[in-house]
Amino acid sequence: MAKEHQKITEAINYYRENYQNLHQEFLSLLRIPSVSTSEEHQDDIQKAADFLVEKLNDLGFSKVSKHTTPKHPIVYGEYIVGSENPTVLIYGHYDVQPPDPLNEWHTPPFEPEEREDYLFARGASDMKGQIWATISALEAILKTGDLGLNIKLLFEGEEEIGSPSLDAFLEANKTLLKSDFVLNPDAGMIAPDKPTIIYGLRGMAYFELRVYGPKADLHSGIFGGVVANPANVLSQLIAGMHDKSGRVKLPGFYDQVRELSDDEKTELSRIGLDDDFYKEMTGVPALTGETGYTPVERAGARPTLDVNGLYAGYIEKGAKTIIPAYALAKISTRLVPDQVPISVHESMNAFLEKNAPDTVTWELEYMSGAPAYITGSDTPGLELFVDALKETWHVEPLMKREGGSIPVATSMKEILGVDSIITGFGLPGDQIHSPNERLHLPTHRKGVEALIRFFAQNYRSTRTTH
Ligand code: BES
Ligand code: MN
Repeated sequence: MAKEHQKITEAINYYRENYQNLHQEFLSLLRIPSVSTSEEHQDDIQKAADFLVEKLNDLGFSKVSKHTTPKHPIVYGEYIVGSENPTVLIYGHYDVQPPDPLNEWHTPPFEPEEREDYLFARGASDMKGQIWATISALEAILKTGDLGLNIKLLFEGEEEIGSPSLDAFLEANKTLLKSDFVLNPDAGMIAPDKPTIIYGLRGMAYFELRVYGPKADLHSGIFGGVVANPANVLSQLIAGMHDKSGRVKLPGFYDQVRELSDDEKTELSRIGLDDDFYKEMTGVPALTGETGYTPVERAGARPTLDVNGLYAGYIEKGAKTIIPAYALAKISTRLVPDQVPISVHESMNAFLEKNAPDTVTWELEYMSGAPAYITGSDTPGLELFVDALKETWHVEPLMKREGGSIPVATSMKEILGVDSIITGFGLPGDQIHSPNERLHLPTHRKGVEALIRFFAQNYRSTRTTH
């Protein structure tokens, strides 16, 4: 025990002494605009992947490679210390969301800027910062001593577009990726003093709904009152998707929803994020949602439906008088256990068949989907991860159900048969997917120390499977 303690202290000291170098490298990674959805950033995706390959090689990882996929490459590398030790597969994504709207950034998204305790850049929190926390911890241990477990790293470049190539990669590489459990740091904590483990994530079904009216835009004076306006129709359809109590009105939408148990409600109430927290965090004058559930329940354990984007007619400056030829909406649903994404697709179809008027035609495209994920308290490694958090923050970590989606957790379970410890050192105020994304550096650094404790522990006695 004393030896283990000394090993951890040495690694933490290395991290503190070499922080500046590691931080400069992190900034270089953030300068690469690896936006997975844009055609024009294809080269940057490669650059980010190459950057990670080089770093893993420098750290002495083996089998380091950039696997090509139909879209963006997957970076893999491993560090095996012994067949007696358990193996953790660590997941990360090096791609980022588009930085738009650009003019709302106070400093350019790919020119990282530090102000007070925060580092501002696209990807700083989601999730290059989390990848970097992992790499920093590994470097600190490898430069000062030994890892306590075998590490397999998998970094993909398509998470923000729904990971279209990941499942096939997992299927084709089951032996390479064999592990006892997954560590997925793509989530976050609820506050700087509240380390958090996510035991459930919402799933998703994502649609584009297109409503077509006249064969071309029409003069709204000549034809208004005679020809249905697709923008009006789309708005009516969307308005009809919720009832007054905030429930989603797609037929059968709630049929498979697993209700919260009283125990779970009690556990979630410990989290203590109330109406005021959400109001302050988001700047809205009042909250919304399904009646009968607390904000934490509504945003983690209840399904929702939201319009993510709307397009119709004339959206430039000034006025133009038209009945647009078409209107479209991007609509996401967030799903909970045991909802099935394709059943939600059927519900959406049924809703439109029933409610769309015959004055227009419409098309519904199912763009992507993934079921929700939930784990038990028996995930291998979980107890030791909790210990590492406790020793770093000196408080009992919170267990939370997260509203965001990490479909790869489900894929890892279904394809590789392993559970994920879902965590991370981002904060709710990090503005991920928004302008001025940021990372709280003191929390990030504490996260590195927690990871050092987790990776350096002596695992021989806690070995689980192979
Ligand atoms: N890191 C997020 C998910 C997340 C956000 C987890 C906040 C916990 C807290 C991830 O990169 C993400 O944004 N995922 C997408 C998934 C989608 C593109 C399939 C999401 O949730 O919208
Ligand atoms: Mn992410």
